[in-house]
Amino acid sequence: MNISAGVESGLQEEQRAVTGRLVIYEEAESTQDLAKSMALSGEPEGTAVMALDQTRGRGRVGRSWVTPRGKNVALSVILRPRLSPRDAVLLGLLASVAVAEAIEEMGVPEAQLKWPNDVLVYDRKVAGILSEGIVSGSRMDFLIVGIGLNVNSTESDFPSDLRTPATSLLMCTGREWDLPEVARSILKHFAVLYDRVKSEGCGIVPPLWERRWRDRGKQLAHEGMVGIGKGLDADGALVLEQSNGSVVRINCGDVLPA
Ligand code: BTN
Repeated sequence: MNISAGVESGLQEEQRAVTGRLVIYEEAESTQDLAKSMALSGEPEGTAVMALDQTRGRGRVGRSWVTPRGKNVALSVILRPRLSPRDAVLLGLLASVAVAEAIEEMGVPEAQLKWPNDVLVYDRKVAGILSEGIVSGSRMDFLIVGIGLNVNSTESDFPSDLRTPATSLLMCTGREWDLPEVARSILKHFAVLYDRVKSEGCGIVPPLWERRWRDRGKQLAHEGMVGIGKGLDADGALVLEQSNGSVVRINCGDVLPA
């Protein structure tokens, strides 16, 4: 069943310009797939799809993403950026900044980021982002930015084998939240940031992200290699400096504290 909800009426004009309709499904296998098929049918930029129950959610690097019924936000946004495919990474990073801003507005004390786009509170993961682009030749046709935010979950809702311990808005703020309201808040923050990227360019993304980065100056490990976290390069790759002074750029996979 499809409950269609309009955009919050209180939004200002410039936000409304890029925050399109929010379509809420009772149940979906993955909101990424729903958003993708809507985009293929010509749905405009800014439309977002949310599912109250997501049964086959996808995470990064082929992992699954669990969304217990009615507990968490599973949200996918259609973007049609005039950017090259490599800039898709930057929009995923931008989405993590938007989630961090939104949850701080809801009373979370300090939201930090872990490369590439995990949102952490007190070192526990509260949200993750999956961006999937459809490319024709050298240009991006559209990009689906998928956002999974733990909202009303409690400890017993999380799988016991998580790589990073998890938390939720409820666990951080002590109260339950309305899922569509939380989704609209994320979309509002994302719309403002995305408008800035459109007018000022992608160069604004690395500094915005780095301001919230948990691991600057820390020893980090990636596929058997260890280095100090230095920052992001212009493409959103993570830059590590090894003890011999050589600099390594990481484009995919996981980076963990060493
Ligand atoms: C991660 O691995 O950290 C990214 C998780 C992304 C999950 C979201 S939930 C909404 C959207 N639909 C999916 O199937 N995945 C993304």
